[in-house]
Amino acid sequence: MISALLLTLIPLKDVDAALTSKFASLNRTLGGRLGETRPISEPCYEDSTSDACKYVQENYGNSTFRVDVYGATMYCLKPVWETCFTTDQGCVLNYQDPTDPTPWTTQKCEIGSLSSAYLTVEGAEDVQHAFAFAKSTGTLLSIKNTGHDFFGRSVLKNSLALWTHNLNNISYNAMFVPEGGQGDVNYTAITLGAGTQWYDVYKFADAHNVTVVGGYHPTIGASGGWLMGAGYSVLTPTLGLGVDRALQFKIVTPDGIFRTANEYQNTDLFWALRGGGGGTFGVILESTILATPQLTLQVASISFNRTEETARNFLKLIIDNGVEWSEAGWGGHMYPNNFVSVNPLLTPEEALESMKSAFDYTLALNGSVVIEEMPSFFAFFEKYVTAADVVVGVNPVLGTRLIPKSIFSNETAKARLLDAFAAMLPFATVNPQINAVTPLLYNHTKGATSILPAWREALWQVVFAAEVSWNATDAEKQEVFSLVDSITQPLRDVAPDSGVCQTEAFIYEPDFETAFWGNNYSRLLALKHKYDPNGLLDCWRCVGWQGAQDERYSCYPDYSS
Ligand SMILES: Cc1cc2nc3c(=O)[nH]c(=O)nc-3n(C[C@H](O)[C@H](O)[C@H](O)COP(=O)(O)OP(=O)(O)OC[C@H]3O[C@@H](n4cnc5c(N)ncnc54)[C@H](O)[C@@H]3O)c2cc1C
Ligand SMILES: *[C@@H]1O[C@H](CO)[C@@H](O)[C@H](O)[C@H]1NC(C)=O
Ligand SMILES: *[C@@H]1O[C@H](CO)[C@@H](O)[C@H](O)[C@H]1NC(C)=O
Ligand SMILES: *[C@@H]1O[C@H](CO)[C@@H](O)[C@H](O)[C@H]1NC(C)=O
Ligand SMILES: *[C@@H]1O[C@H](CO)[C@@H](O)[C@H](O)[C@H]1NC(C)=O
Ligand SMILES: *[C@@H]1O[C@H](CO)[C@@H](O)[C@H](O)[C@H]1NC(C)=O
Ligand SMILES: *[C@@H]1O[C@H](CO)[C@@H](O)[C@H](O)[C@H]1NC(C)=O
Ligand SMILES: *[C@@H]1O[C@H](CO)[C@@H](O)[C@H](O)[C@H]1NC(C)=O
Ligand SMILES: *[C@@H]1O[C@H](CO)[C@@H](O)[C@H](O)[C@H]1NC(C)=O
Ligand SMILES: *[C@@H]1O[C@H](CO)[C@@H](O)[C@H](O)[C@H]1NC(C)=O
Ligand SMILES: *[C@@H]1O[C@H](CO)[C@@H](O)[C@H](O)[C@H]1NC(C)=O
Ligand SMILES: *[C@@H]1O[C@H](CO)[C@@H](O)[C@H](O)[C@H]1NC(C)=O
Repeated sequence: MISALLLTLIPLKDVDAALTSKFASLNRTLGGRLGETRPISEPCYEDSTSDACKYVQENYGNSTFRVDVYGATMYCLKPVWETCFTTDQGCVLNYQDPTDPTPWTTQKCEIGSLSSAYLTVEGAEDVQHAFAFAKSTGTLLSIKNTGHDFFGRSVLKNSLALWTHNLNNISYNAMFVPEGGQGDVNYTAITLGAGTQWYDVYKFADAHNVTVVGGYHPTIGASGGWLMGAGYSVLTPTLGLGVDRALQFKIVTPDGIFRTANEYQNTDLFWALRGGGGGTFGVILESTILATPQLTLQVASISFNRTEETARNFLKLIIDNGVEWSEAGWGGHMYPNNFVSVNPLLTPEEALESMKSAFDYTLALNGSVVIEEMPSFFAFFEKYVTAADVVVGVNPVLGTRLIPKSIFSNETAKARLLDAFAAMLPFATVNPQINAVTPLLYNHTKGATSILPAWREALWQVVFAAEVSWNATDAEKQEVFSLVDSITQPLRDVAPDSGVCQTEAFIYEPDFETAFWGNNYSRLLALKHKYDPNGLLDCWRCVGWQGAQDERYSCYPDYSS
């Protein structure tokens, strides 16, 4: 009896006795299903010569490896991801050289910003248990899907973590009627468990000969932060944002009620979930999204060797052609010396003609140009995105802005935008990324979503990032924040009435409520209070955020510009 009790009370990593005993009691209620967190790099701190450590080192930047582990996030920046910025506790490797022994020879493996205990969610009852537990014991909660969040909102020290990873069911319905509908309207739709990732959804959709609109990385979650945070794609210019195509959510709200939200029931919640952000209104178990027939895509891709002069000139060319390209249906990610863009509206001949100026520029520099037709979005994704294998596990600090289409008829504003981009070029690790991913040609239903209204007026979502080293000093971290803030300022100045994409933003973006949601914030806040009256869910700069002084944010450093 006594020994069994002692066994269950062995302290968890970095958790005090009171919380350990709360978790132990919850674990008993759950039949032992509460997981004990192991940071992904722990094997190297235990035995750096082990095969397990070698595997972690070899796969440090591999998102497929990271996504299957609770104790990992995609980006492990000190403030919020795997490490606690303010105490420097954590268990990471040097991402620039994972074989560097400095981390495990100079530090202990600590839980950092991760939760010590996590529940792999199997259904609504698990979530109801968790909310009841949080309410009765005062324990914090966090929700993790893939760990892609740029503000580290999917992990939280000292919280009970709900991990949605295993809710990975996908189903197809050619005549989906949202629950409560009379059958007068139906949709071709795909229903996704909350843990599904875009690569799997694209593959599934392709097998059913349909197209869905999703994120530009194979392991982004299809049904979590991406969807609730707007959800942009290279197909968004023609097919809309993720929120425009959401048909139904199944969710447990913090009051413990399992609800279905769609155009017929819980319509206020349905509106809030379409743009109000992840981690705020409850735990999504399942979502249903619109599918459209298979598309033939024209793909245009260029790249050339970069100098400061060619980069600036090419950015000018992008600015000069931006409106025309977007109006022709192109969506893509553009950089100072390369881009990949797709277009579902043009013929191959029209596509070539439309891209002529960029191709001529590139060819004059002996760069490479490709124009090709792809039979489906999945074929495109496999060739251009999966194969490109974006490295994760690094430490980027983002700065972003939505750039309104209106400024492109103003020569002064265009010149200032070019200067803002050019100011990024001297920094080796700062690269402007111009995303043509706004719903420019999409005929949306007015008032149906709660996203920042500026999304509808924007031509581009502009992003850049600066990196900090794995063991940066406080002063170095602050320097990177200042740099990002100062490079963002000219973008804010050129588009003062716009805002930012709330899933991709500077972590200290000023006046975040307005910058993330504009005039839709007040209704979102009222709905937050309606569905989460006890404030059981909270995350960094989410609707109803309790503020930097809340105990949840002790790992986020102070920064003021
Ligand atoms: C490499 C990379 C590429 C990206 N590309 C794109 C892109 O093309 N388009 C785009 O729009 N965005 C893109 N993003 C941003 C991405 O959409 C956000 O990081 C998003 O928050 C990820 O959502 P997730 O559910 O996968 O991640 P997580 O980090 O697991 O979760 C994100 C947030 O949602 C909450 N959440 C997750 N699941 C649930 C749930 N079931 N119920 C309630 N809350 C939940 C979490 O608590 C957290 O607050 C990209 C990010 C990265 C790192
Ligand atoms: C929960 O109980 C199981 C079975 O006893 C144990 O393996 C697991 O480590 C416990 N979880 C936590 C968080 O203590
Ligand atoms: C990434 O990790 C996954 C899962 O561990 C593995 O199957 C895959 O081969 C790895 N990819 C690379 C490029 O090593
Ligand atoms: C998973 O999807 C299938 C249809 O593909 C459905 O029959 C089944 O009920 C779903 N399971 C869950 C747990 O949702
Ligand atoms: C779906 O809509 C089509 C076209 O309006 C209709 O013919 C069909 O009967 C509907 N199906 C269901 C299940 O409601
Ligand atoms: C796929 O869809 C397209 C467009 O709707 C259609 O022309 C084609 O016949 C379909 N192919 C298959 C294999 O179902
Ligand atoms: C491109 O290649 C041609 C032929 O090799 C060469 O003459 C020319 O100088 C090159 N131009 C640039 C910009 O490198
Ligand atoms: C670009 O740079 C690479 C590497 O330095 C070089 O091999 C290649 O010839 C360059 N291409 C052009 C067109 O200058
Ligand atoms: C053009 O842009 C400049 C710089 O952003 C701004 O000061 C000016 O008011 C704009 N002009 C018009 C007509 O909008
Ligand atoms: C846009 O949608 C509205 C209502 O949904 C419809 O009345 C209008 O004709 C559509 N416009 C275009 C250009 O498709
Ligand atoms: C960070 O780690 C590197 C080795 O990876 C080491 O050379 C450097 O001195 C460390 N910096 C600080 C501030 O500890
Ligand atoms: C959301 O913003 C749009 C665009 O400004 C506005 O038309 C709508 O009334 C707002 N919705 C609410 C509920 O405030």
